[in-house]
Amino acid sequence: MTKILFIHNAAQVITMAGHSDMPAKQEAMSKMNIIEDGAVLVQDNKILAIGKTDEIHEKYQDLLSNATQIDATNKTVTPGLIDPHTHLVHAGTRENEYAMRLKGKSYMEIMNAGGGIHATTRATQQASFDQLYEESKSRLDKFLLHGVTTLEAKSGYGLSLGHELKQLEVAQKLDTHHSMDIVSTFMGAHAVPIEDKNNPEKFVETVIKEMIPEVARQGLATFNDVFCERGVFTPDQSRRILEAGKEYGLIPKIHADEIEPYAGAELAAEVGALSADHLLKASDEGIKQMADRNVIGVLLPGTAFFLMAEFAQARKMIDRGVAVALSTDANPGSSPTLSLPFMMNLGCLKMGMTPEEVLTATTINAAHAIGRAQEIGSLETGKKADITIFDVPNYLTLSYQYGMNHVDTVIKNGVPVVV
Ligand code: NIG
Ligand code: FE
Repeated sequence: MTKILFIHNAAQVITMAGHSDMPAKQEAMSKMNIIEDGAVLVQDNKILAIGKTDEIHEKYQDLLSNATQIDATNKTVTPGLIDPHTHLVHAGTRENEYAMRLKGKSYMEIMNAGGGIHATTRATQQASFDQLYEESKSRLDKFLLHGVTTLEAKSGYGLSLGHELKQLEVAQKLDTHHSMDIVSTFMGAHAVPIEDKNNPEKFVETVIKEMIPEVARQGLATFNDVFCERGVFTPDQSRRILEAGKEYGLIPKIHADEIEPYAGAELAAEVGALSADHLLKASDEGIKQMADRNVIGVLLPGTAFFLMAEFAQARKMIDRGVAVALSTDANPGSSPTLSLPFMMNLGCLKMGMTPEEVLTATTINAAHAIGRAQEIGSLETGKKADITIFDVPNYLTLSYQYGMNHVDTVIKNGVPVVV
């Protein structure tokens, strides 16, 4: 029997419709499609209709008699939020490094001394599959509580074939068993393991010749990411790793220009990356090339906030034609948060974005950044019924009342999972 769910009388339904084929850029990022006194009708796991409450009511009367009803009076309905960049699967925390940074040590100093990514790599290597699964599952639960219905998850704390596969298999199992949808990225090139410190080329070769082919053979990832940063992987090494991934059908993404300018944005444009992420130090030329080549800028304001660094120039990027998405970068070192709505606050208050832009950046543009915009990211007939209802009377309040969780209800695949 088909299931009907009727969300009605919403103060605002924000549809984000009309951008499933191409991400929204420039002024299009600010145009909101708002239905006041709106309704969304869901049949099984898909959106059947969307419009004014009385119109939907009249047109679908027959279906509504057996529908589950959600009264959204004084609430705002949006597409389920999408987080296009997380390091979900890892073991442990690094509050000790946080304390060190507060006393003046830098992120890279800590990493070069064997902490940072290496510390989480040790913990992740030691953790069993089940431990990793449970830790990551509890993070997913919290993401869901903050309105996120799909996220991208990277490997990169294994740094050996077996442990990288373990991380990706955890993500795969969570995708199957948790209501959240997970899109996986292989990120073997997250750091050079300490034992290969004096011969990074050896590790680059392992990534290219062993890891990428095996990850692709097992179908464990859609994307291939690399931390292109001075002291980590050079642009040349990053290029080779991303080109190798392309040969195996893995779509490139890049951690670009995070700590220092390193022509990462330019490299993203050159290799045809779907997105370049971070971009705190991206050059004007890199921004131009990203706009010209349709590389999405995935901005991670939580990382700038937490590393006490300068924020990415979102305003400039949007004005110059880069499609921008926002993400938490959830990880234990540079952004230990699971709140995408807080990134919306930071996007407005620290990166010069508008409330409209941050909503676009966490819905339809985020869907594009993980290659899923045909199914999710907007409320349109035929799309997956991933819907977040916020207990605020309008979308402006989401980025105005900051650091709070306004989520009221989350519907995933047509099923209320947070109520
Ligand atoms: O996106 N920059 C590299 N990777 C992560 C941080 C990983 C960590 O510190 O554990 C990032 O910031
Ligand atoms: Fe990251």
